[in-house]
Amino acid sequence: LAPCTANTVAKLAMGICDNFLLATVLSARCPVWVAPAMDLDMFTHPATQRNLSQLSALNYHCIEPESGELASGLTGKGRMPEPETLVGFLGDFFHNSSSNSDSSYLDKPVSAENSIATTTTTAPAGATPSDTPPIPRPYSWYRNKHVLITTGGTREAIDPVRYIGNHSSGKMGIALAEALVEAGAIVHLVAAHVSTPLPLFCQIYRVDSADDMLSQCLSLFPSMDAAWMVAAVADFKPLTAATEKIKKSDTQETITLTLTKNPDILATLGKNKQPHQRVCGFALETENEIFHAQEKLRKKNADCIVLNSLKSKSVNFGSDYNEVTLFSANREPLAFPVDSKSAIAQQLIHTTSTWFSE
Ligand code: PMT
Repeated sequence: LAPCTANTVAKLAMGICDNFLLATVLSARCPVWVAPAMDLDMFTHPATQRNLSQLSALNYHCIEPESGELASGLTGKGRMPEPETLVGFLGDFFHNSSSNSDSSYLDKPVSAENSIATTTTTAPAGATPSDTPPIPRPYSWYRNKHVLITTGGTREAIDPVRYIGNHSSGKMGIALAEALVEAGAIVHLVAAHVSTPLPLFCQIYRVDSADDMLSQCLSLFPSMDAAWMVAAVADFKPLTAATEKIKKSDTQETITLTLTKNPDILATLGKNKQPHQRVCGFALETENEIFHAQEKLRKKNADCIVLNSLKSKSVNFGSDYNEVTLFSANREPLAFPVDSKSAIAQQLIHTTSTWFSE
C-alpha cells in the first residue's frame, strides 16, 4: 500500500473494513507491505506510531518513510520512498532470503478445501505461517548474485533534435532480466532506448548514448558478479554534436558527418573482469556469423557470446522471438531453436548457470 495514509494505517491497525482497499487487505493471504506517507507531525503523532507498531505486531511489512520536503512545506520524515526503492524491498524479500517463509504464501497452491481452512485459522495478512515451510527454489549460480544487464539501443546526438540510433526494442535484454530475477539474481538493468515496458524487481538505470552506458556500467561493474551486454550499442558517433539544429540550405545538396568510434563496453568490462566475474555478450551478424561470434568471444574476453542472426526469419528487432547459438571458449556451440525471447532467456540463464558452477 503505497502511499499509505495515516487514516488507512489506523484502520488497518483496528481491522476496520469500510472500503474496497481494506476489504482486499483483510482478505489477503499474501504478505502485505505498507509504505506510510504523510505529514511530519501526523507521522510522529503517538497515535500513528502506536498504529504502526500494531501493524508490525500483525506482521505487516512496514517500509519507513524517508526524510525530505513534505507537501505542507515542512521538512522531515514522511515522504514515500521512490517506487524503485519500494520495488527493491519486494525484490530483496522475494529473491534474496530463502528463509522468508512468507513466500510460501505465493508458492503454495491453495485448494478450495484448503482455502476454507485457511480463512478460519490463518494469521493476519503478512503473518508467517508456522506449518508451511518455504518451497526451495531450484539451484542457480545466479542466486543472490548481482548481475548487470544492458538493453535497448543507444542514441548518438547529431544535433539537439537528431541522432544516430538503431531498431533495438530492448525485449531480449528485458527477457534476460526477468529470467535472472526468477533465478534469484539481484538485477541492475542499464536501459538505453526501449519500446517496451521495463521489468519490475530490477534496479533500473536509464541512459542515452554509448558514453553514458559505459560510465554507468563502469560504476556498477566492480560490485557485480556477472554482466550480460545485450544492448545494441552504436559503434560510431558524430565526432562533434552541433549545439544548434543543423539548417537546410538552398545551395547545399549534401552534408558530411564525420563519425568517430564509440567505446566498446563489453570489451572494456572483459578487460577489467576479475576471476570471480563472468561477462557475456551478444553478437548480431549478417555474414560469416560463426567466425565473427568466435572472434568477439576472444577479442572481448567474454565468457559467452550469444549469436543471433539477422538471416534468421524469426529474428528481427522488436520481434518476440529469437533463434540463437551460444558460444563459449571450451565448449561446442549450443544452438537454441526458434522460441520466444522469454523462453530463450530462461534457457540461456539455465545453461550458463550450469557452466559457471563447474
Ligand atoms: O532489443 P531487441 O529488439 O529485443 O533485439 C535484440 C538484439 C538483436 C539487439 C540483441 O539480441 C543483440 O544481439 N544485441 C547486441 C547487438 C550488437 O550490438 O551486436 P554487436 O555484434 O554489434 O556487438 C557485440 C557485443 O558487443 C554486444 O554484446 C554489444 O552489446 C557489445 N558492444 C557493441 C558495441 C559497442 N560499442 N560496445 C559494446 O559493448
